[in-house]
Amino acid sequence: MCGIVGVLGRHEVAPLILESLKRLEYRGYDSAGIATVNAGVLDRRRAVGKLVNLSDLLVHQPLPGKAGIGHTRWATHGEPNVKNAHPHRSGPVAVVHNGIIENFRALREALALEGIGHETDTDTETIALLTRHHLDRGMTPAEAVAATLARLDGAFALAFLFDGEEDLMIGARKGSPLAVGWGEGEMFLGSDAIALAPMTDRITYLEEGDWVVITRAGAEFHDLAGNRVNRPVARIRLDQTRVDKAGHKHFMAKEIAEQPSVLGAVTAFHLLPDGTDLALPAEVDFTTADRITLVACGTGHYATQVAKYWFEQLAGIPVEIDIASEFRYRQPVLSDRGVAIFVSQSGETADTLAALRHVSGKVARTIGVVNVPTSSIARETDVALPILAGPEISVASTKGFTAQLLVLLLLALKAGQDRGRLPPAMMAQHLATLKTLPGLVARALDREADIEALAQKLAETRDALFLGRGVMFPLALEAALKLKEISYIHAEGYASGELKHGPIALIDKVMPVIVLAPRDALYDKTVSNMQEVMARQGRVILVSDRAGLDEAGPVWAQLQMPSVPDLLAPIVYAIPAQLLAYHAALARGTDVDQPRNLAKSVTVE
Ligand code: AGP
Repeated sequence: MCGIVGVLGRHEVAPLILESLKRLEYRGYDSAGIATVNAGVLDRRRAVGKLVNLSDLLVHQPLPGKAGIGHTRWATHGEPNVKNAHPHRSGPVAVVHNGIIENFRALREALALEGIGHETDTDTETIALLTRHHLDRGMTPAEAVAATLARLDGAFALAFLFDGEEDLMIGARKGSPLAVGWGEGEMFLGSDAIALAPMTDRITYLEEGDWVVITRAGAEFHDLAGNRVNRPVARIRLDQTRVDKAGHKHFMAKEIAEQPSVLGAVTAFHLLPDGTDLALPAEVDFTTADRITLVACGTGHYATQVAKYWFEQLAGIPVEIDIASEFRYRQPVLSDRGVAIFVSQSGETADTLAALRHVSGKVARTIGVVNVPTSSIARETDVALPILAGPEISVASTKGFTAQLLVLLLLALKAGQDRGRLPPAMMAQHLATLKTLPGLVARALDREADIEALAQKLAETRDALFLGRGVMFPLALEAALKLKEISYIHAEGYASGELKHGPIALIDKVMPVIVLAPRDALYDKTVSNMQEVMARQGRVILVSDRAGLDEAGPVWAQLQMPSVPDLLAPIVYAIPAQLLAYHAALARGTDVDQPRNLAKSVTVE
């Protein structure tokens, strides 16, 4: 995904746009650029790589002007270089884009037939070429943009600027979020509230298909059909948009450390004030549900894999889980009594949003489990449950994962309650257990020094294997994802019991095998699997509680965790998984918060 911002300001806009782009860099950091209109003249500066390169360029080649648009890119079409960096320009029009234009090749061919060639490898350039084409035919900027939008298939959030137009900016939204910011004698556009927070706390989100004509006097919203429409102005809570590291070395470290307070906030929000029962919206009702479908991507998918155990064990309801990018293409069998739950930290992941749109109208209810209440998935599900994690800037999801797990656990408890499987006494016991979660997570965080020492062993390896059984198997998958996405070590997660069916061939005297195993009902089986590994000189790192470590006997290395209730183990054991990855990445010198090739939320399929 990319970040876009626009400013019609009272002062020079380049510094303001740079500040906003810094807050959007988590959305992509392959290249960045700004265009401004100064004394009626449109101009731009672009740089490949991190935003600091654009900042340096602007020191040597300043870009004056009180009207401007900016962009930070995660490359989809065309490699990261200056030529492909946004803003893209054709004659009097410049545009920045977040999304994918799926029919850009056909549009390119149509333009070529009119003698209009392209210079870049991007889909976005086609938007500039098409808009210019319409301007050359005498259309006004608003007419030219409307005519262009009518030709575009795919997803886009756009901001346009025009030569000779000091007080005009046009925005459009289809499939990627975009918001208007309201100032005093100045106006803004941005991908999200985080981008706009330095400039205003009054924002209006464009609805799907909207486009907006902005001057310093205000904004005129148009819907897909071109009708003038009104859209509400919302106040954003600026504390919810804070994106500083609060003294930590990395956002990831800060977000890992925030988990006890985040999890406390989740239970405070979703339980009655006295903690004696759930306080979920009335629409969250599983009484007549005959199945649950859980859809997500990446870390969110691993959270749903854990939730499958909880829904089946606590509520006795069949659960289907799938990764969003596969879900709708396999023609899933849906039930009109089913409940479909979509889990997404950003709420903008294109695959998950597409899966949601695929099921709409085909199931009894859709529920979103999201971190951004104003996101597309939050807005398009029948009911959205916030995970209250606060902005998660580091690309690797940590507090987002554990907060998703907790909300999913609350949903599983609600399903058990609705289906008569959890009588009040048992419910009260589970809710009392939840109250211990922040403290247990804090105790797991206290093991950071030991985890850091273990991570040094991991940092030297090329491959790693994570094992887990039962509800800990998805944790093995998540631990492997964390390690590979920020340290670039090839890591795999496996069900412990599956090792002997092939992967045990990988065991040698070098590759670490990290076993995530609280002393639970399946522990004896896991110990057997560990013995199979050690019988082949495998290097087992056992992550367990005191009882488990004592029972397992000598292993290559071990980490003691607090003893935790089975219900909470998947959430608490996420901490060593996160910290192992974090410290291994530090040891390897990789970019912890902005790993190569990645972006925080992937708003393209
Ligand atoms: C998690 O560490 C990854 N960055 C990635 O797998 C992420 O979970 C996935 O892209 C889904 O994002 P979402 O939760 O915002 O939908």
